[in-house]
This record gives sequence, C-alpha cells and structure tokens, in this order.
Amino acid sequence: MKSVFLIALILALGSCQGAEVAEPMSAQDRSFSSVIVDGVEAFRGVLQKGSPEHGIPVMAPMKAAQRSFEFNSGEFSGTFGVENFVLEGLDQYEVKSMKMEVLRSRVTFEFHFPSVNVTTDYDLDLGSGFRVKRTGGAFFALEDLNIQGRISYSLGVFTSQLRVKDILVYPTVGNVNSQIENLSKYRIFNRKLNEVIEEFVTLTINDNTDFVASWVSEQATPICNELIGDRTLSDIIAIITGGN
Ligand SMILES: *[C@@H]1O[C@H](CO)[C@@H](O)[C@H](O)[C@H]1NC(C)=O
Ligand SMILES: *[C@@H]1O[C@H](CO)[C@@H](O)[C@H](O)[C@H]1NC(C)=O
Repeated sequence: MKSVFLIALILALGSCQGAEVAEPMSAQDRSFSSVIVDGVEAFRGVLQKGSPEHGIPVMAPMKAAQRSFEFNSGEFSGTFGVENFVLEGLDQYEVKSMKMEVLRSRVTFEFHFPSVNVTTDYDLDLGSGFRVKRTGGAFFALEDLNIQGRISYSLGVFTSQLRVKDILVYPTVGNVNSQIENLSKYRIFNRKLNEVIEEFVTLTINDNTDFVASWVSEQATPICNELIGDRTLSDIIAIITGGN
C-alpha cells in the first residue's frame, strides 16, 4: 500500500523520477501545471517499463513468483504466502484534475483508476489456541477507485529548496470485488465470507477518510522529502521539461 501512495505522490509532484523519460518540450510556452500533467503521463511509461537506473521495477503489472510474510499481532500469529502474484491496473489512471496553486504553495489532484486488482494463489496458516490453514486461488479488485488529494509544499527563500509540508490523500472506492477461494469448504459460506470482506474494505476506505489521510501524510511526507533530496524547484522543473 505504501508504494501505491508513493506513486500517487511522485505523480503529483511532477514525478521526480519519471519525468526524466518525458519528451523534451519547450517549457516557456506552457504553464507549470501542464508540465506536471505531462510528467504524470510520462510516469505511466515508468510504471509499465520500470526504470532500472533508479531502482524502480515494473509495477504495471507487478509480479511476484513467491513471497511469504510472518505476522504476529498478539492475538493472531502465523504466515501468509502468495504465489503467482499479479497486481494490475496501477497504470490505468485517468488524471481528472491537476492544479498547481502557486500562491498557496500547493498542488491539488484527482486520479481515477477503473480497476486495481490482484490475482494470486495464497496460503494462510493462522494459529494461537486454534489453527486455521487455508489455501487456494484469489482475485481481489478495487473498482472505480478515486484518489483525490492535496500536496502543500514550501520553498526556501534563498535557495528555492523544495520541501513537502503535508500530503492529504482521500481515496474512495465504487466497488470492491473479493473472490477468495477456500475460505470455507462450503460454497455458500465462502461467498458470504467474501461479501463480509467486500463490505469491510469498502467501509474502511470510504468511511475512514480522515484516518487514511493522516496516516498517508505521516508515511509519505518524509519519503517524498527524501526523494527530492537537495534538488531545488528549478532542478525539478528542469528534470520534468527534460531541459538543462
Ligand atoms: C484487472 O485490472 C486490469 C487493469 O485495470 C483490467 O484490464 C482487468 O480487466 C481487471 N481484471 C478483472 C478481472 O476485472
Ligand atoms: C481448496 O482446499 C482443498 C482442501 O481443503 C484443496 O483440495 C483444493 O486444492 C483447494 N483449492 C485450491 C484451488 O487450491
């Protein structure tokens, strides 16, 4: 999840990384906002092809042959493994709006994703007092996902050092589609469990917006500042415009 927010963030910032693949263009006769929109479009290519020189893997589709996680949260402990994992749809965004408000030092944006989905085989082994083992195929999709947000930044007075002050991201999801096999060996009950998951995820995303927003702000602000590093605003504009 962290990397998804990071992507949205990089996109919105005019893509510090992705912009380097942007077609060179004449910045003079374009507004900065339209330069950002072009950077966002260029970032689609980075998601699809990766950028080895910046250590960015292909993220659309994102694949993993096999991975497993151990978790221990007091009440529950166990392992969760995935095999043949494929995440699709991160590149299928439509930029609904992207505005740079220079006087207020902020960028507001809205992205729409028709479907971000995961197909995988999974393997769950959950224990503590009882034992639950599940294995099967799974498909899970967030459909009609909308991400609206605002990034506030500051510029150093003398150095025009760019710093991100605050990132607010408000996601909403139109529909959650969960098709996890083998949660129960009874088909009807399995469907019911998936419906519970669908409802839970929908409510978590759509109703806890302030919680999500502040969590993202805490996670993403330092990451983004680290990505920007010592670059000044003019460095970043130069990168975006492919200029020198
Ligand atoms: C998964 O997402 C991709 C990209 O958005 C989409 O083309 C595909 O139809 C989705 N798969 C399903 C089964 O909905
Ligand atoms: C579901 O679990 C059963 C055993 O409970 C197993 O035989 C079957 O292969 C599993 N389905 C998948 C798709 O792995």
